[in-house]
Amino acid sequence: MSKKKTAVIVLAAGLGTRMKSRLAKVMHPLAGRPMITHLMATLEALSPDKVVVVAGTDMDDVAAAVAPHPVAVQTDRLGTAHAVLAARDALGAFDGDVLVVYGDTPLIGVDTLRTLLAARRGGSDPAVAVLGFRPGDPGAYGRLIVNADGGLERIVEAKDATDDERAVDLCNSGVMAFDGRVLFGLLDRIGSDNAKGEYYLTDAVGLARADGRACAVVEGNEAEFLGINSRAELAVAEALVQTDLRARAMAGGATLTDPSTVYFSFDTVLGQDVTVGPGVVFGPGVTIGDGVVIKAYCHLEGTRVAAGATVGPFARLRPGADIGTGAHIGNFVEVKKAMIEEGAKVSHLTYIGDARVGAHANIGAGTITCNYDGFFKSFTDIGRGAFIGSNTALVAPVRVGDGAVVGAGSTITHDVVADALSLTRAEQVDHPGVAKAIRDHKAAKKAEQLKKGS
Ligand code: UD1
Ligand code: CA
Repeated sequence: MSKKKTAVIVLAAGLGTRMKSRLAKVMHPLAGRPMITHLMATLEALSPDKVVVVAGTDMDDVAAAVAPHPVAVQTDRLGTAHAVLAARDALGAFDGDVLVVYGDTPLIGVDTLRTLLAARRGGSDPAVAVLGFRPGDPGAYGRLIVNADGGLERIVEAKDATDDERAVDLCNSGVMAFDGRVLFGLLDRIGSDNAKGEYYLTDAVGLARADGRACAVVEGNEAEFLGINSRAELAVAEALVQTDLRARAMAGGATLTDPSTVYFSFDTVLGQDVTVGPGVVFGPGVTIGDGVVIKAYCHLEGTRVAAGATVGPFARLRPGADIGTGAHIGNFVEVKKAMIEEGAKVSHLTYIGDARVGAHANIGAGTITCNYDGFFKSFTDIGRGAFIGSNTALVAPVRVGDGAVVGAGSTITHDVVADALSLTRAEQVDHPGVAKAIRDHKAAKKAEQLKKGS
């Protein structure tokens, strides 16, 4: 790519009324991060010289999401040209190329942006290059009117178009690359005498043509230009992102038994030969080592699973769960902020939180680390090779030494030294024959009642 400088203006001042949300539209998540963050990551890959985000008033969350890039506030929402003008001071004197993208159109790919910039720098030195597409339903999109040579003459908004113009199926994606030397000169001349009474950025094309400058169109793929204006469109976008993440996971050497049922986050990392069963959800911050098997219906978030471990089915790994090499996490097990060391087994119906489970320890079914007393969280430390019997409550802070055994049903409230056997259960009392005596007595009583009733 040439050394010409590139700036990007991201328009995100829209209220997103149709989302019916207190959250700014561009803060709604896609694959576990706000859609604006998704777009900013794409822009990062383009490594532009400058990025300015145009946001509305009271959008501090948007400003935080795009930091350290500057935010220009557009107080009145008077249209897309007005929004770009709001970025003028933050952009400063800039004579490179200026790319305009929309915060609510986050699926645009970096290769498509590069193609558009290359067109802007192409032979006819167009003042504006526009990304066009041919959607199944052109609906309310602006129509791109091209001349006999394929050059762009003007853009007509659907509301202002004649029937002939509306019949054009080549539409404006909204993504445009401007010659920065003429951008603001064009915008200063845009008026608002149109169907919406707004300052349309799209009018820059007609004005540039009147100045004798060429304008260009590059056609792209509809899926990249999906604009998110409603929750339904958000769901369509999420599905597209998930399809992409699943394909990447498989291309990277993971087996997904039923790909369409697995949900990834933008940052999920899978090693080689990982197997993921149906219905598995990866929240943000998950890293899975080589050869790990994650069985059906697990939920993982903020978790690391080391090579060769098995997880699930139906396991929940919460933030700070760190599963060691070859460890085993079985069904209905919840782990939070805990290190499960190499080869340890937590196989059934257990909660391990704020804890360490030593290497090769075995945690019996129904074991609970009682880590919270209503005020404070406390730590449970289980030693290497320890054996915790089923249905044990470990009342933290507490330590079970290496090689110690805790008998089933115990409530452990103080430390168990290494290699000790510790039990707290009540003594067993046996009464031979009593069960049968009670059973015979009750059966006789019931038979008598039935006889009376008939
Ligand atoms: C715009 C284009 C249309 C194109 C369509 C693609 C114009 C005049 N029309 O129409 O040709 O087919 O996008 O989706 O540009 N925004 C602001 N401040 C404003 C107005 C808008 O920041 O004052 C932002 C919005 O948040 C949004 C983007 O600009 O991210 C587009 O605005 P919107 O009103 O949705 O434009 P459309 O009518 O969809
Ligand atoms: Ca729109």
